[in-house]
Amino acid sequence: MAKSAPISPTFKEVPWYADHYPKMARFSYDEVTNDTARRRDWAKAMLTDGVALLTGLPDTDEALTDTAGLIGYVRPSYFGLTFEVKTHIKPTNLAFTAKALPLHTDLPDEDLAPGVQFLHCRANSVEGGNSIFVDGLAVAEDFRKAYPEDFELLITVDVPYFCEHDTFDMRSRQRVIELDEHGNISGVTISQHHADIFDMPQHELDRYYPAFCRFGRMMRDDKYLMRFRLNAGECIVFDNHRIVHGRLPIRQPAAIGTCVAAIPTGASCAPPTGSCPGKDVSNECRYGCRFGADPDRQSEQALREDLAAAFRLAVKFGWSESVGNHFSAAVSEDGSKFLMNPKWRHFGEIRPATCCCSMPMMKR
Ligand SMILES: [Fe+2]
Repeated sequence: MAKSAPISPTFKEVPWYADHYPKMARFSYDEVTNDTARRRDWAKAMLTDGVALLTGLPDTDEALTDTAGLIGYVRPSYFGLTFEVKTHIKPTNLAFTAKALPLHTDLPDEDLAPGVQFLHCRANSVEGGNSIFVDGLAVAEDFRKAYPEDFELLITVDVPYFCEHDTFDMRSRQRVIELDEHGNISGVTISQHHADIFDMPQHELDRYYPAFCRFGRMMRDDKYLMRFRLNAGECIVFDNHRIVHGRLPIRQPAAIGTCVAAIPTGASCAPPTGSCPGKDVSNECRYGCRFGADPDRQSEQALREDLAAAFRLAVKFGWSESVGNHFSAAVSEDGSKFLMNPKWRHFGEIRPATCCCSMPMMKR
């Protein structure tokens, strides 16, 4: 049977660039709640631009889920119906730190990653921490023209993602750039902090990884980076399969205990609590991936990833067949706590989360 002709969508996607912030579609909470025409305009903006800004959301837990419910149903992620992001003294997630959160899409370790995300800012008193948003569609279109061979790799090879916590271990494989049946770019997925070690054969990795890095570098070009500050009462809504987001580093909060919360939702919707127990200080949500060297890579997770990469390099150069060798990376400043490879595990099997173990150094 002959292949059907492409169907012209009612609303065609329109790529946008760094200067998009003042042009971004904006709607008040009252408008989208009470005016069906404005709600339709909001839905149209989501289809054409992939992003819109809502203003005037009430400072309540319900405001977020109520707003998301205006254009769809809230689908829980493995974090639950909502996900609260605050900066913690002892973070267990990159999202809970004040460090820069490089560009990423959310939860690629789920088979079906969240669709439309809602980030509700309840308050914002920190210095820094501005949001960075990129239209992945615009970057991918330019990447196709500039690096056609690299583009071909990113649309054909699946890469592994994972998220491991105490009660779950999520794993999935995604393509960095997805095409629809007509060859149009239909999705972008990228998140190095959820990426597992690329497990393709070495000769494929030698081609794929440079292509992957080139795409990441292009994404960070000033041509594409929309920078803005998310203010109290605002909610940015974006297509998680198109828009790539991140955050600049947060400097010292204005006052310890001041709560500044923002939440990812949509397919995963998350109302903030608005409270900051103990010395925790909430801030905008966002967590991310890394491209290239990052001087802020001091977390244990970052060390795990770097150490696992070192083992992979050892395999690449043929240094992996000696029994009993190890690499280690200090976690604590005094070196008493460190990461190393598990006993008898082949270097080629080392993974950041499961195979590098942390242990106290034995006293001599
Ligand atoms: Fe995120």
